Formats: sequence, C-alpha cells, structure tokens
Amino acid sequence: MTRVLIAGCGYVGAATADLFHGDGWEVEGWTYSPESAQSLMAKPYAVRAVDISDREAVTRAATKFDVVIHCASSGGGGPEDYRRVYLEGARILLQTLRPHRFIFTSSTSVYAQKEGEWVDEESAAEPMHETGRILRETEELVRQNGGTSARLAGIYGPGRSALLRKFLSGKAAIEGNGERFLNQVHRDDVARALLHLLALPNGSQIVNVTDDQPLTQRACYEWLAAKLNRPLPEIVAGTGERKRGPSNKRVSNRKLRALGWEPMFPTFSIGMERSVLPAFPTMGA
Ligand SMILES: NC(=O)c1ccc[n+]([C@@H]2O[C@H](COP(=O)([O-])OP(=O)(O)OC[C@H]3O[C@@H](n4cnc5c(N)ncnc54)[C@H](OP(=O)(O)O)[C@@H]3O)[C@@H](O)[C@H]2O)c1
Repeated sequence: MTRVLIAGCGYVGAATADLFHGDGWEVEGWTYSPESAQSLMAKPYAVRAVDISDREAVTRAATKFDVVIHCASSGGGGPEDYRRVYLEGARILLQTLRPHRFIFTSSTSVYAQKEGEWVDEESAAEPMHETGRILRETEELVRQNGGTSARLAGIYGPGRSALLRKFLSGKAAIEGNGERFLNQVHRDDVARALLHLLALPNGSQIVNVTDDQPLTQRACYEWLAAKLNRPLPEIVAGTGERKRGPSNKRVSNRKLRALGWEPMFPTFSIGMERSVLPAFPTMGA
C-alpha cells in the first residue's frame, strides 16, 4: 500500500486525505494545532499535530512516506509566515522525509498579469509582492527536488466560498466596472487533481488547477443575485491594491486537462448549484 502524508490537513487537505483513503492509500494527516488534529479524530486515518516548519518535530514524526503533499496554509499572513510555512516547510519535508513524489499546493496568485489575458504554465509568473515571490521560491525548491507544484485557483466548495459569504453578508461590492476576472476551483476537483497528478509518470512539473471558465466579478455577482433573488452588490471605485495583488488574468487549465484530469465542477455556477448553495451555513441568514 502506498503511504501518503497530507501535510496540512485543512479544507483541501482533509478532502484530499479522504479521497486517497477511499482510493486505497495509507494516509496520515498533519495539522499545526492539536485542536485541529483532535477535530479530525473520527477520520479513518491518523491525524496528528506536527509543525512542518519545526525540523526537530518533523524528524521525530518522520516515518516512511512514498508521497508527501504539502498543502499547509499560512492562513494569509505576511512574508515571514509565507517563508516559514511554505518555503521552510517544503525544505524540511523534502530533506527529512525524502519521498518518491512531492506535491506543493502553490497558487495562481503567482501570475501578476493585469490585462485579463489568458495565462498558462509557460506564461511569466513574476509576482509583484514578496509573498508571491516566496511561493515562486518554494516552487523552485520543489522543482530542484523533482517535485510538482500545483497552482490552485481560489478554492470554494461545501461550507466555503468567500464570494458567496460576502454576497450574503452584504459586504460584497463590484469594483470599478467589475471586469476583473476571478479564477476559481472546487475543493473536490483540487483533491482529484492531486490524485491524478500522482498517477502520471512525470513527477516534476508545474500545473494550474482551475475550472474551465474564469468569470468576471460582475458576472459572478450577477449570477448569484439572479439565483438567490437578491439585489446586485453596490458598485464602488476600483480598490487598486488587493490582498492577492492587483492582477487580472484568466488562468488556463488546458495542460491539466490534456493530462487527463476533468473537473466535476467545470464552472462556478455548476459547483454552486450542485455542491455549495444547498448547504451553505449562512444561507438562511
Ligand atoms: N484557499 C484558497 O483559495 C487557496 C488558493 C490558492 C492556493 N491555496 C493553497 O492551498 C493550500 C490549502 O489551503 P486550505 O484552504 O485547505 O488551507 P486551510 O483550510 O487553512 O488549512 C491549512 C491546514 O494547514 C495546517 N497548517 C498550517 N500551518 C502548519 C504548519 N506549520 N505545520 C503543519 N500544518 C500546518 C493547518 O493546521 P491548523 O488548523 O492546526 O492551523 C490546516 O490543517 C495552501 O497551500 C494554500 O496556500 C489556497
């Protein structure tokens, strides 16, 4: 049986761990806090708290893992957090565990393009912000070690959609003309992409993991407004600086699709209708 470590058993990590377990893998999940590990106690695989940025802790917890998936998150934060969780975390996992295969869940935020153009894995990935540059540094470290970087778009899924949450709470706003593109992907399609990547012979590559259809911010809110029969959010002046950088691009999933992956939720509206809206926690609010 192949042993996989899910280093960062959070929203994506736990779904990934479930999928791998169901597929017959021997799974272990790590979280940062004992509380998070405790909350996953009922899972049919082991979950424990191991800080991946603590070399001694990782060394103590190390056993033989064939595959390691680094999907721990800095939870936002600044460059120091990024460096600790992504770069140092990846370095320590690679050096300590020496798995056959390694996947790092990076982000499509590394693309800084601004004109709404299509970008793929061959496009420049030159982030404007230090945090993005640390992701690129981590990708480079992963490449040097023969690993894969999966650049994830904005994740949504059961119980999670930043866009829907803002919309329902009345905090949503259409910025400027609302023509900035949003690139999104359903959590379960991410998990399936990670499993799919491990079935491929080439363990050393970069792939975008995003759905088929980038949507403008306006189109997203228009769809939600029509679907939920609520007013369209107010239009405000463009905010310029945004958390993930003032980029505006359409991220292509053509490479991953050509490698045989197919999203179960190819568009935001399909994912919302089939998987998110029926059970979103604040729908009744
Ligand atoms: N969310 C998005 O839209 C998005 C977009 C692009 C890329 N990504 C990337 O996708 C990955 C997964 O994101 P997510 O949304 O699933 O994150 P999440 O729900 O916040 O889960 C993160 C997990 O990582 C664990 N963790 C954090 N620091 C750790 C450390 N030092 N050692 C061990 N475990 C640690 C957390 O444990 P605790 O619960 O104990 O803190 C939690 O289990 C991340 O790499 C993120 O950067 C996310």
